[in-house]
Amino acid sequence: MATLNINGESRSIEGSDDTNLLWAIRDIAGLTGTKYGCGIGLCGACTIHVDGVAVRSCLTTLGEVAGKDITTIEGLSPDGDHPVQVAWRDQHVPQCGFCQAGQIMQAASLLSEKPNPSDQEILDGMAGNVCRCGCYERIVSAVRQAATGT
Ligand code: FES
Ligand code: FES
Repeated sequence: MATLNINGESRSIEGSDDTNLLWAIRDIAGLTGTKYGCGIGLCGACTIHVDGVAVRSCLTTLGEVAGKDITTIEGLSPDGDHPVQVAWRDQHVPQCGFCQAGQIMQAASLLSEKPNPSDQEILDGMAGNVCRCGCYERIVSAVRQAATGT
C-alpha cells in the first residue's frame, strides 16, 4: 500500500514501490483523464506534474513519487479555467482529444518554467508530445495565447 498526494488529496493506493504510476492513476485512483499512448516515454499522452514539473507517468513508479505532489489533468484547476485550458478552448485545439490532457499538462509546465516563451521555445518545449491528428499549429497558438493573452 502506498500513500500518494494526488490533486491535493492524500490517497491510499494498492501497490508497491515498483508499481507503474500511470496504471495507479488510471486503474486504482480512477483518474482516467491521463492517457496511455506508447508506454515507453515517446508520445507524452501520459504527462502529469510531479511537484509542478511535467513527468511521463508511464516511466514513473510509485516509489519515485512518494511524498511528492502529483497533479493530473483533473486537478490542474478547480473549474477548468487554467490559462492553458482557456486558450485551448479559444483556439479549438483538440481534434480526437486523445493526446490533449498530456499536451495541456506539458504546456502548463512549460509556461510555469518559461512564462513568455518564444515560438521556438514553445516548439522545443512541446516537441515530445505527439498528436496523431496533427493539431500542432493550434497547440502553438494556444500556448502563445496562454502566455501573452493574445
Ligand atoms: S504513454 Fe507515456 S510517453 Fe507515451
Ligand atoms: S487530438 Fe487526436 S491525437 Fe491529438
